[in-house]
Parts: sequence; structure tokens; C-alpha cells
Amino acid sequence: MAEFELILIEKPSDGVGLIRLNRPKVLNALNSSVMNEIATALTAFSSDPNVRVVILTGNEKAFAAGSDISEMSGKTETNILQDTGVRNWQTIANFPKPLIAAVSGFVLGGGLELAMTCDIMIASESARFGQPEINLGIIPGAGGTQRLTRVVGKSLAMEMVLNARMLNANEALRLGLVSKVVPLETYLENALELAKQIAARAPIALQAAKKSVNAAFELGLSKGLELERQQFAMLFNTSDQKEGMNAFLERRRAKWQGK
Ligand code: CAA
Repeated sequence: MAEFELILIEKPSDGVGLIRLNRPKVLNALNSSVMNEIATALTAFSSDPNVRVVILTGNEKAFAAGSDISEMSGKTETNILQDTGVRNWQTIANFPKPLIAAVSGFVLGGGLELAMTCDIMIASESARFGQPEINLGIIPGAGGTQRLTRVVGKSLAMEMVLNARMLNANEALRLGLVSKVVPLETYLENALELAKQIAARAPIALQAAKKSVNAAFELGLSKGLELERQQFAMLFNTSDQKEGMNAFLERRRAKWQGK
């Protein structure tokens, strides 16, 4: 794995990779170097057969307080249009293995956009979510107007984007933005426990499941159902499908091969 300066990489448990944003002095503001490092780490994890699930986290005070305003402030329209950093966001969105965001504290702007690009979000009780870009005279530029609206609906997304309305952890839970709210002391542990459980499951089926659920955000119903059907059929060409069903019939635990 490459050397990193702004993120920390760990393998806390069998099958689990962990990426920790590490710019605590600026509340993990996302500059282009951090985004490059996240994309590089995910690219390495995607081809590592010993990593089946990845957790992306920050610290208790901030998952990330947004894109780095110091870096962005002097940019021109051309700079933004030609910014190759968009590829990093695509790398994250296209990461084929399950990606869990374990968030706490500020989850703002690009930070919320990054967390929403992950598959599952687990929040500490202290998490606060928002798209406050309007305060800077801009709008969300990495999916905030699109992914947030699909989750929380138009009226609330509009309030958040037009008027910088923030959500607390319980509101985010009620809206389905996060799947679980847990005490601050245990949010990372909780995400790790979930990651371990998922990592122990059939790897090819996990990737097919992720692809199919994500298709619900990209495709209309008939195309989505078609893709699901193809993924479902493809799994009948794997040893894991035979093993899973035989194990059920023989009343034993399945041993997944990942093939
Ligand atoms: N970019 C760069 N630096 C940031 C930052 C950001 N997004 N957010 C916080 N920081 C820095 C602050 O400048 C400060 O640095 P110094 O100590 O060197 O002054 C340090 O982090 C601590 O921040 P505060 O002193 O402001 O801490 P606070 O507790 O008083 O306030 C906060 C916390 C409410 C999150 C406040 O920092 C804030 O409003 N941050 C900006 C949030 C924001 O606007 N995010 C959207 C960014 S734009 C974007 O993300 C575009 C996109 O869609 C891609």
C-alpha cells in the first residue's frame, strides 16, 4: 500500500479495511490531496482479496466539515470545470465492495457528500449533518443536491441546500440518511462489528447486492429489475451459491470461497 500523509490506514480485523481521515486541525476538511489518498487507498483495497468491507471514518469531533475552503477560495470556473478530482469521487462511488461511513461530529458539505457516497452510514449521537455551501455563495458540488434529495425528499433537501438547515443524528435516523445512531464512545466499534459481520458473508454475492441496490438510484424500475435479475442469475454460476444452499440443506454453516 502507498504511503499516506492525510489519512491513516488499518486492517482492524479479518476482511476489514479502515480509512481514517486525519486532518484534525481543520476538522478533516477535504482538500485534493486527501481525496487523492482516499481514492488511492480504495483502489488498493478493491484488489486486495483479504479486504471485503471498508470503513471510512474521521474523528469524534468531525467526520469532515466539507471541502477545503482555503484551497477552493481562489479557484475560477475553468479550474473547477477542469478539476480532475472528480475522478476520485467516481472511484469512491464505483468502489465495488461494501463501504461503511462511521460518522461523528460535523458531517458537512463535501463531508456529507462523501458519507452519502458510501453504502451504509452509522452515526454517533453527536453527528450533525448539513449542506451549508449557500453560506459561501455556492451550492453542493459533489452530489449533495442529488443524493440528499433522493434520501430526504424535496422539501427538506431544499431547506438544507437553500437555507443551510442542519440535521441532528436522530433526525437523520428518522429520515433514513443513517441506519443506526449509537453512543459517541462506541460508534467506531459498532461500525467495526457490522463490517465484521458483512465481511464474513459470500463475497461475490456482496458485490452483486451492492451493485443491485445502487442501481435503484441510477435506473428506472424496469431497468433496475433487469439488472437485479442478471446479478441474481450470475450468482448461480458461483461455487458460493452451491455451498450456501447445500449448507442450508445439510444444516451446517457455509464456508465461502469467494468464487
Ligand atoms: N475548509 C477549510 N478549513 C476548515 C473547514 C473547511 N471546510 N472547516 C473548518 N475549517 C478550519 C477552520 O478554518 C479552523 O481553522 P483555524 O483553526 O486554522 O482557524 C478549524 O478548521 C476549526 O474550525 P472553527 O474554528 O470554525 O471551528 P468551530 O467549532 O467554531 O466551527 C464549523 C465548526 C461550524 C464546522 C465551521 O468550521 C464551519 O462552518 N466550517 C465550514 C463548513 C462548510 O461551509 N462546509 C462546506 C464547504 S464547501 C463544500 O464542501 C463544497 C462541496 O460541496 C464540494
